[in-house]
Amino acid sequence: MPKISYKKILLKKNKEPITCLTAYSKPLANILDGNVDLVLVGDSLGTTLYGMKNTRSVNLEMMKNHGKAVVSNTKKSMTIIDMPYKTYRNKKEALKNALDILTYTKADFVKIETDHKNVAIVKYLTENKIKVVSHIGVTPQKFSDFSKIKSVGKNSNESNHLIKLAKKLEDAGTKLIVLECIEMNTAKKITNKLTIPTIGIGASNFCDGQVLVTDDIINLDSNNYKPKFIKTYIDVNKDVINAVKSFVKDVKNKKFPSKKYSY
Ligand code: KIV
Repeated sequence: MPKISYKKILLKKNKEPITCLTAYSKPLANILDGNVDLVLVGDSLGTTLYGMKNTRSVNLEMMKNHGKAVVSNTKKSMTIIDMPYKTYRNKKEALKNALDILTYTKADFVKIETDHKNVAIVKYLTENKIKVVSHIGVTPQKFSDFSKIKSVGKNSNESNHLIKLAKKLEDAGTKLIVLECIEMNTAKKITNKLTIPTIGIGASNFCDGQVLVTDDIINLDSNNYKPKFIKTYIDVNKDVINAVKSFVKDVKNKKFPSKKYSY
């Protein structure tokens, strides 16, 4: 199976939903590769993997290292890497860091959290041949406390603001737009207005595709706060607890390692 191209992803708009899940490591990259269109190395790794309170402490080195592990094990899907907090505050800083991440990891896209203030940065990156994914709506880097997050785009002011922003980002050359926690009619209007695909997370099935954090859909960590938009497909946490208990029991009963597992 050859690697999916951006052109093929574009052609899916209005035809076939686009799929995207997160990976931070080689094993998950191997599982996702070819089963989803896009693999995202999200800065959600700060909270999900490192137990940080929010994503603001994630730094460039972390994204580069996890990004390299994922991209070098992803041959069929396209890859996106998040630019961490405070690494794209102005055009020069954004270009330097985007080039650093992309050169080191060989990912296809960088993703940046966007508002009306940094559209010019997206434009500057795309003019410099960087493939950018923009992230609008609820942008987690703005929050130090995730329990304060609420959906957006519910009134006409917010809705018009988001629609205008999405259009500006398309005009600035962004390749895909992630819509996070955006009310469904606003997500529908944005999706219909744009020629590039929208990828939703908590933004309804009116989007051209969907993204979720893989650790959430498999319930790897049952202590993690799970917003309304997360569907759990398998309870890995329960299965791992059972495996750990069985191992401990076997060791205590001297059942492991038996001859089969010994030299
Ligand atoms: O960091 C991340 O994983 C993300 C997705 C949840 C969209 O930005």
